[in-house]
Parts: sequence; C-alpha cells; structure tokens
Amino acid sequence: MTTINWIDNYHEDHMAVLRLLAKLDGNIKEIDMGTKRQHVDMEFKEFADVIKDVIIPHFKQEESGIYARINEVSEKHQNFIKNMLDEHERLYLVFDQYITAADPLEEQAIIEPAKTIIEVLERHIKKEEEAIPILAKKLNIW
Ligand SMILES: [Fe+2]
Ligand SMILES: [Fe+2]
Repeated sequence: MTTINWIDNYHEDHMAVLRLLAKLDGNIKEIDMGTKRQHVDMEFKEFADVIKDVIIPHFKQEESGIYARINEVSEKHQNFIKNMLDEHERLYLVFDQYITAADPLEEQAIIEPAKTIIEVLERHIKKEEEAIPILAKKLNIW
C-alpha cells in the first residue's frame, strides 16, 4: 500500500479556518450595520496573515500531495480534483484582493472579497472534510 504525506494539521487547519470564517462573517456584518468595534480592524489584518501563513501553504500542500495522488491513482476522480483546483485558483485571486484591502484597511474594498472567501472557502473545506478521507481510504492511499 502506498501512503501519502498528509498535511500535518489537515483536519485541524480546516476546523480552525472554519472558526475564523465565522468570526470574519460577524466582522463584515458589523461594517454592514455600522456597528464596527475598534478591535475588528486588527482582526481583518490578522486574517490576512492567516491567509498568507496557513491557508496558502495548506493549499500548496494539497496540490502537490493528496490532490496529485488521487489524480494519479484514479481517473474517475479527476473531475472532482479539477473542480477543487479551480476553487483554489479562484480563491488565490480573491485572497490577493482581500490582502490588499486589509492593510491599510479599506472597509468598503474588503467587503466583497471577504464575503466571497467566506462562501467559497467554507464550501470547499466542507467538501474536503466529507470527501477526501473517504476517497483516500477507498483508493488505498491512506
Ligand atoms: Fe483545498
Ligand atoms: Fe484543505
């Protein structure tokens, strides 16, 4: 049986990012409602660091690790992986917009990329949590 190197904190990263997305969602609502508290500015910047230091490296590891391995062993799942890669590409573009708007913070410019990240990344992570461990087990690469 061939094994692959899972990202050390594969599941933990996902759970931590989902929690941060919920927080980001709350912070965006504060801007929308005009009730933004002062520390929220700092949290937008902190999330930009999480994108750079955690999420992008995590994506890269998936691309060269588990995604590539599934592609190698299963033709049947290449569409699924293509789909996941397309979502990464879409998110890289939106991450750039978010990071630019986070420091110095431009409230109006950060709303759209933040909302897209919340929507697309949450769905992406849930798909990975549901499908990838089962798939890897089934393909005998876990
Ligand atoms: Fe991913
Ligand atoms: Fe992931």
